[in-house]
Amino acid sequence: MTPDRELLARAEAAAARAYAPYSRFRVGAAARARDGTVLTGVNVENAAYPLGVCAERAALARAVGEGYGPGELEALAVTASPCGGCRQWLAEFRVDAVTYRRADGELAVATAADLLPDTFQL
Ligand code: THU
Repeated sequence: MTPDRELLARAEAAAARAYAPYSRFRVGAAARARDGTVLTGVNVENAAYPLGVCAERAALARAVGEGYGPGELEALAVTASPCGGCRQWLAEFRVDAVTYRRADGELAVATAADLLPDTFQL
């Protein structure tokens, strides 16, 4: 798999719209459905810190709101390495290819299953 630079550019553009007044760490994500529709999301923080939402989850929630469910997202790009909770969300939606930027700046691409092996299933 090769990193999806076009989708990452959409995520980078979205990151400018993040609401991150506490960490000042802006994150953007962009998910692409199989029909080509791109859904973006940003991290949205809150004064009550644990209530903040990550960019990946914001993008996936938007995708669901637009009618896209598990198996319908072919790719997602995010400007940071996905946290553990977001890896569980990516697994839930069975995203085929996740492009992300590692902390060292390198691009990486992996399946949701690779990012979180032996995923919890209900
Ligand atoms: N963050 C994300 O949006 N996605 C991740 O996968 C890692 C962390 C956000 C959460 C918080 O607003 C900020 O980055 C610093 O942790």
